[in-house]
Amino acid sequence: MKKIIVFAMLTAAVAFFVQHPAPVSQAEEMATVHTITLPTIPPDLKEGAGKDKVMVFCAICHSVDYISMQPHLPAKNWDALVQKMIKVFGAPISEEDAKTISSYLAAQYGTDKK
Ligand code: HEC
Repeated sequence: MKKIIVFAMLTAAVAFFVQHPAPVSQAEEMATVHTITLPTIPPDLKEGAGKDKVMVFCAICHSVDYISMQPHLPAKNWDALVQKMIKVFGAPISEEDAKTISSYLAAQYGTDKK
């Protein structure tokens, strides 16, 4: 009787493992190369003097869409915004480049140009 029970348990165990193969090991999973394709979002900043600096410095932390999505602002507001990026968020921008960037923003996205 005991032999029958042991045999039944072994059969059940074998049947279980046949139906449930061992999951892919972590090492195997890590060795698998997965690829994803990120979307390419072309920057759509207006042409103008200083655009190159904006493309370099203002895209370090976020998309330059942050600029084009803003309402047109007076020059002093753009200047304050550039200063906020530097002083509050730590943007590594020299005073000279900051001036070039503020001028570009005021000229292309200022309230005097629609
Ligand atoms: C060191 C990182 C960093 C750099 C470099 C940077 N920003 Fe930002 N910027 C931020 C952070 C953080 C926020 C707030 C993000 C949020 O609220 O989702 C932000 C938000 C903004 C916004 C949205 C309005 C606001 O006040 O929150 C604008 C516009 C903007 N940045 C423009 C610029 C411009 C122009 C430059 C280049 C002079 C620049 N950023 C460079 C970090 C940076």
